Amino acid sequence: MKKERIKIISIGNIKEESQIQVMGWVRTIRKSKNVSFISLNDGSTINSLQIVLDMKVFDEKIIDKINTGSSLSVNGKLVNSTGKNQKYELQAESIELLGESDPELYPIQPKKHTFEFLREVAHLRPRTNTFSCIFRIRHACIFAIHKFFNEKGFINIHTPIITSSDAEGAGEMFRVTSLDLDNIKKNKLDYTQDFFSKPVNLTVSGQLNAELGALALSEVYTFGPTFRAENSNTSKHLAEFWMIEPEMAFYDIDDNMDLAEEMLKYIISYILKNCSSDLSFLENLELNDEKQLPQVKRNEFPLIQRLEKIIDNDFIRVKYDEAFQILRNSKPNKKGKFNFKVDEWGIDFQSEHERYLVEKHFKNPVIVSDYPKQIKAFYMRSNRDNKTVAAMDVLFPSVGEIIGGSQREERLMMLEKRMEEMNVSKSELSWYLDTRRFGTVKHSGFGLGLERLIQFVTGMKNIRDVIPFPRTPGNCSY
Ligand code: 4AD
Ligand code: MG
Repeated sequence: MKKERIKIISIGNIKEESQIQVMGWVRTIRKSKNVSFISLNDGSTINSLQIVLDMKVFDEKIIDKINTGSSLSVNGKLVNSTGKNQKYELQAESIELLGESDPELYPIQPKKHTFEFLREVAHLRPRTNTFSCIFRIRHACIFAIHKFFNEKGFINIHTPIITSSDAEGAGEMFRVTSLDLDNIKKNKLDYTQDFFSKPVNLTVSGQLNAELGALALSEVYTFGPTFRAENSNTSKHLAEFWMIEPEMAFYDIDDNMDLAEEMLKYIISYILKNCSSDLSFLENLELNDEKQLPQVKRNEFPLIQRLEKIIDNDFIRVKYDEAFQILRNSKPNKKGKFNFKVDEWGIDFQSEHERYLVEKHFKNPVIVSDYPKQIKAFYMRSNRDNKTVAAMDVLFPSVGEIIGGSQREERLMMLEKRMEEMNVSKSELSWYLDTRRFGTVKHSGFGLGLERLIQFVTGMKNIRDVIPFPRTPGNCSY
């Protein structure tokens, strides 16, 4: 009789003594004369299933071929387990070795590897406990985000990946071309001969296109890959990352902040509810790693408590002016402990400043608003003081800026003036300006960096460890 394959995560719901089939990869195997044990994992859960092999039934030669990393299909009977952390084990009746794995060559051993080493085997790292947890949590975050916006009646729109505009105006774009670059004489690039007859790039943000959606469908969001050629080799920057960008007609900056806070709390609640065993695993991993660290370098609270604290408290809201004063008068600033001194109004905050505000001063997530206009993009709405814009950044513990957003400049004349001041081409963006010509309306939006969110939720220190295939300066393998 053909049995239906059961995923290991659902085994707890099955009746004892059931005949089942499981498939997965061997984490460990202990071979002995009378009975052998295999720990089998299929990625559906952190928990592996213990397979018990009565060696009177199985041919030793076949069992000898099974090693860490081999893939198996096993049929057998579920029996109660005496081991802790597991309800059942599987008394194997037949085994099929699906794919062999040479124990001499398989890079992942049942021991602790460094994250740096595992990045070099990114194609196999989801086989480890840690990374399988991270990727399941990543999936759950993505699902929770779509669920949140769907429940609120937002329309998901796809914005283009190839674009001719630089939404952020920072000039950090990857050029896309079909010209034969290997055979082009120096300085002779002729974009009129290129695929799109003009220079185009990979998108740095879907916002400008999302604004068009909002000004017709009221509330939209785009969720796509974004690309930035900024040469930042930090633990918070990727050259390719995923961004969630909601854009809402009729919202002002305060409505925008409310939505950002509500969304972050919703996602984190969802993860706490639905990913508890993965979170517990990561929490223990962190606690163990921290044992080797001096107290000052340890997290003040364990992972799950850090997540609960986000839900339980209101985010602090301060204007740039106030945040600037706090930082300028702070002890580390006065004692020269910051790498970047806070002295002149108008400076952009660095990660060390953001973390000081969140972790030391307010001990809560902080939304900083009304930044100086010279450090923000052209599309942000000018405030009455003519010095600041209706921008807002959400700052989180350990990751710093997790969201950047603003109320948009909806007044045609003001927007055109700003574009002129900042050398943004009005003719290139005439399609964008049209939204201000025909039925313009107050609107706002923001961008959430998916990987920064996952860093916070999983406690991972390096952003490269929360994306399956990280792209950073000098690294584009797999
Ligand atoms: O603050 P940013 O640059 O804002 C925008 O792109 C706006 N157009 C968003 C909007 O209003 N629709 O980026 C938004 C977020 C940041 O707060 C950060 O979380 C993340 O994107 N981010 C990065 N994440 C990883 N690697 C990078 N290089 C990132 N740059 C930004
Ligand atoms: Mg930003």
